[in-house]
Amino acid sequence: MKEGQPTTIYLQDYAAPAYRVDAVSLVFELGEASTRVTSVANYRREPGVAADTPLELYGEALELLEVRLNGLPLSETDYSISDTGMSVHNVSALCTLEIVTRIYPQKNTSLEGLYQTSGNFCTQCEAQGFRKITYYPDRPDVMTVFTTQILADKQKYPVLLSNGNLTGSGDLPDGRHWARWEDPFHKPAYLFALVAGNLQHVEDHYTTLSGRDVTLRIYTEAHNIDKCDHAMQSLKRAMSWDEQRFGLEYDLDIYMVVAVDDFNMGAMENKGLNVFNSKLVFASPATATDMDYVNIEAVIGHEYFHNWTGNRVTCRDWFQLSLKEGLTVFRDQEFTSDLHSRPVKRIEDVRALRTFQFAEDASPMAHPIRPASYMEINNFYTVTVYEKGAEVVRMYQTLLGRDGFRKGMDLYFERHDGQAVATENFLAAMADANEADLSQFQRWYDQAGTPQVAVRMDYDAAAQRCTLHFSQSCPATPEADNKLPFLIPVAIGLLDGKGQDLIGTQVLRLTDTEQSFTFDKVPEQPVPSLLRDFSAPVKLNFPYAEADLVFLMKHDSDAFNRWDAGQRLAMQTILTLLAAHQQQEAFGLEHDFISAYQAILTDDALDRALRAAALQLPSEADIAEVARPSDPEAIHAVREFIYTTLAKALRLDLERLYAELHEEGEYSPDATSIGRRSLKNVCLAYLGRIQDDGIHEACLQQYLAAGNMTDAMAALAVLSSIECPQREQALQHFHDRWQHDSLVMDKWFALQATSSLPDTLQQVQALMQHKLFDMRNPNKVRALVGSFAMRNPLHFHAQDGSGYAFLTERVLELDAMNPQIASRMVRPLMNWRQYEPVRSALMKAQLERIQAHSGLSGDVNEIVSKSLV
Ligand code: TRP
Ligand code: ZN
Repeated sequence: MKEGQPTTIYLQDYAAPAYRVDAVSLVFELGEASTRVTSVANYRREPGVAADTPLELYGEALELLEVRLNGLPLSETDYSISDTGMSVHNVSALCTLEIVTRIYPQKNTSLEGLYQTSGNFCTQCEAQGFRKITYYPDRPDVMTVFTTQILADKQKYPVLLSNGNLTGSGDLPDGRHWARWEDPFHKPAYLFALVAGNLQHVEDHYTTLSGRDVTLRIYTEAHNIDKCDHAMQSLKRAMSWDEQRFGLEYDLDIYMVVAVDDFNMGAMENKGLNVFNSKLVFASPATATDMDYVNIEAVIGHEYFHNWTGNRVTCRDWFQLSLKEGLTVFRDQEFTSDLHSRPVKRIEDVRALRTFQFAEDASPMAHPIRPASYMEINNFYTVTVYEKGAEVVRMYQTLLGRDGFRKGMDLYFERHDGQAVATENFLAAMADANEADLSQFQRWYDQAGTPQVAVRMDYDAAAQRCTLHFSQSCPATPEADNKLPFLIPVAIGLLDGKGQDLIGTQVLRLTDTEQSFTFDKVPEQPVPSLLRDFSAPVKLNFPYAEADLVFLMKHDSDAFNRWDAGQRLAMQTILTLLAAHQQQEAFGLEHDFISAYQAILTDDALDRALRAAALQLPSEADIAEVARPSDPEAIHAVREFIYTTLAKALRLDLERLYAELHEEGEYSPDATSIGRRSLKNVCLAYLGRIQDDGIHEACLQQYLAAGNMTDAMAALAVLSSIECPQREQALQHFHDRWQHDSLVMDKWFALQATSSLPDTLQQVQALMQHKLFDMRNPNKVRALVGSFAMRNPLHFHAQDGSGYAFLTERVLELDAMNPQIASRMVRPLMNWRQYEPVRSALMKAQLERIQAHSGLSGDVNEIVSKSLV
């Protein structure tokens, strides 16, 4: 992007490429000052394209050394160069273009293209990083076979990796060595990868369903080699699951994963050579929490599943990102659900969707899962494209059934293996395989915003008839003021007075703005259970009485809705208290509310993980979403009041349960053990709300005695918001114990950044001077700056604006090094309109300050300018 001249790219402007690539061969001469890249590509003009059509290549920040067409040097008039690429004129229908460029990986702090991390080379090419390596048609609909030769100093970089199969290697006279890799599968440039460094690996094998042996390797620096076992086991489980559930096998002889410390995102699915953020690979009981274990398995699965949904079938253009990401997130969610607890996984995913995606959908950055325009594609790797995209894929399965969905997947691969396609092709495969009309379903791809569904119920006792009246609407979002009705699958049940299902679970199809459904032979007025298992990404409203919600919490056969009834009850209570707080009226909790929580706490027949989830109140961010204009301080106060009141009222039950759930013995991250620990640690978090030295001491004891990181962190998290000597002791202990392990120290930074103690911002500022803190490392930035701005609303939204000013300074500092990360960090300011006037004005002023900054990246500029429209 040219500075100061942001341009918008439109989906409707898509044009197929004029030239294809038959093959490309790359030579990397990796050096200490710079790297020399030679690319030889065979181009073929597409039939029907005019002969005078120039060959358009993308290229950014490249030093062009040589360029030859069919072996002859090109004269200056045969091509033109701009900031964003190269046009070659007068090319023949078949031609070979040889380009030599020089790049500077050691100076590359954007972590896009070729860069160094911990002294090793690695690449990140999605979405448009390949153009920082060489001039190339860097667009996903140009697919070809890659040959990659790497030359590097043998001592410093003993391991040389790229996609596909190793087809040659050897020593050079000057202390260097070389390796050649060939990838037989056609792929776009964004799936290219190269790694060179001083790495160790663990190796295992997997035999596919059809009996092929695949070598599996995880590469890392030597000191982490003992923490790769969980990732390796996860990989094998993923390979087996995809065979069982979707009939999909791996296709190369080797699958490699490389863990790196400096990475902008979670992980990357490069063909045969995944690159992972090291936090999503390394696990040991002492260093990783239950959540880390589960995340590692999920992301290992996610990148593996991309081999079919993303790599074998890829995206035609970047507007189609959700084609691969929504589908692959859905697949990783199903993987986790099949291996662990389905309802727990569903609750966690929906909680995240509501907290982050609903907020995005209500923000100036709201966009459909298939946006119609963008300025910087990196800004569209969003919770909407990923998580809402996964919900949209899930709705096909809800509408068509598991078998129907599988038929659609089979047809999708049958039709499109080896192609770069659009979301319409996926929809067509689902529809055609099931002979279903899904044309209205397309609107989920084209319209942004969270649909709202309002429901009313009529019951006619004489006719034994129950009628549900639905109406749907969708708020205006930047791309459209008026929305057409969606096809919404609403899974429902009707419960009788004993809590029995009267009609089982039925999936209603809403298609119109207003629609009614009638149920006969309903002998008594039922309580409806609506949107079971969260069957669509919508906000559903029904005028539930509190007693109905308590009833559903107890009796609904749908575990998700039992949890959701509790969340609705909590939110209603919170809103009531907030109103009282604002009027400066005295407030307290109803007895019924307390006993509903007591019932969950003491119901030993209930799954522990589900009890833990049910005992957690909606987050401060969730409340801010609903209680507008939001006052984060009041929200914090009211939520803490409820926690403290419940803790005091239920203290004996909490202490009993906490003691009962204590465990000793070897750590295991299975669903049962995770559930036990999560319930125990929820009890501890409640108890921590009571000012009592005995409890502080119990936290310290749990921290010191913990045989695993989950229990250690849970105790430390409770202490981190309490002013007490045990807090200082535990934090110091953690520091001294883990300062040699940078990844573990991220937890220590994040904990302090999310504390509710009054001097948190000063602490965060002081921690920026800590020897382990580094603004160039995205994990560190996310742990300290990101946690403060995104997970500490109380202090980020301090009424004096200090939190906003702090974030602004960090964003500007980061933008000069790594625009992708800067552009993530600026987003907490985006929703300024939802806050009360004082904060709103302060947030807006900081956005304006950022916008006025000269030399701002296109990444940050897009977010800021859209926020200020
Ligand atoms: N495709 C990656 C995934 O699995 C996302 C990703 C990794 C990415 N690194 C990136 C996207 C850098 C943009 C920039 O979801
Ligand atoms: Zn992905």
